[in-house]
Amino acid sequence: MKKTIFITGASSGIGRETAKYFSEKGWNVAASMRSPEKEEELKAIEGIRIYKLDVTRKEDLNTIVATIQADFPTIDVLFNNAGYGAVGAFEKSSPDEVKQQFDVNVFGVMDLTREFLPVFREQGHGMIINTSSVIGRFTVPLYTLYCSSKWALEGFSEALQYELKPFNIQVKIIEPAAIKTDFHGRSLQVFENKEVQGYDELEDRILAGMKKRNEKAPGPEVVAKTVFQAATDGKNKLRYPTGKGAKAILLARKLMPTSWFNKIVFKQQLEKQ
Ligand SMILES: NC(=O)c1ccc[n+]([C@@H]2O[C@H](COP(=O)([O-])OP(=O)(O)OC[C@H]3O[C@@H](n4cnc5c(N)ncnc54)[C@H](OP(=O)(O)O)[C@@H]3O)[C@@H](O)[C@H]2O)c1
Repeated sequence: MKKTIFITGASSGIGRETAKYFSEKGWNVAASMRSPEKEEELKAIEGIRIYKLDVTRKEDLNTIVATIQADFPTIDVLFNNAGYGAVGAFEKSSPDEVKQQFDVNVFGVMDLTREFLPVFREQGHGMIINTSSVIGRFTVPLYTLYCSSKWALEGFSEALQYELKPFNIQVKIIEPAAIKTDFHGRSLQVFENKEVQGYDELEDRILAGMKKRNEKAPGPEVVAKTVFQAATDGKNKLRYPTGKGAKAILLARKLMPTSWFNKIVFKQQLEKQ
């Protein structure tokens, strides 16, 4: 029987590429997005069905699982991919901006996962794949909210795996390095509080460097392949670093004293690209 993956944030980047890749590999794909009326390419691909889902909207979350169940005999993988970056000096952020970052990157994942668990338990199997980042395991300057949201996701995923194991439900984490998508364009929200001064030079240097690195980064196909590997390798493995330099930097993070590692990261972030 054909397997089914449910994907959030499939309108662009990693989510869109993963939808296409799984479909090419013969899977049923339930691709969800906030504005399905704008979608054309995925709608034309056989085996992909489109659903409306904003991960912060209770109305969407409460009905999505029943809708998918009506269309597919099983749901094998939930791929929590939707996310964005709220960046800039923390002092410039508002409580609403903090809340929104966590609503999408953390609480959206938790709320959707809770909806899928009864189905996974009843069918006797399932897999949850969460999209973190390499900076879900270390930090970079000016990414306080984004890093803390991804660190939260790492902790959530790692702890969740224990209680789900007896039900044959696996949890996996994808940790991309820089990937060329819309992330550093429309999915990057830079704090704009003009009343807070003193961070301009740091912001200019770091954010410009990040954007340049992103332009030179590999495309989302590399992550789609890693998601497929995570879904099909049959391994009892939690973390899947992916993209250029991801494994190397996480190895350095593991082996080096934190203060050395952080000094190198900060210096490297300040360097002109
Ligand atoms: N690109 C990178 O360098 C990189 C590195 C590490 C991790 N990641 C992670 O990878 C994931 C995908 O990002 P991407 O690189 O593919 O960027 P992207 O092309 O900008 O895609 C982000 C997706 O998230 C969706 N989204 C945002 N808020 C949403 C909400 N409230 N409900 C549902 N969907 C929502 C967007 O939908 P709309 O089209 O409606 O805006 C879009 O489909 C994110 O979790 C990101 O943190 C990316």
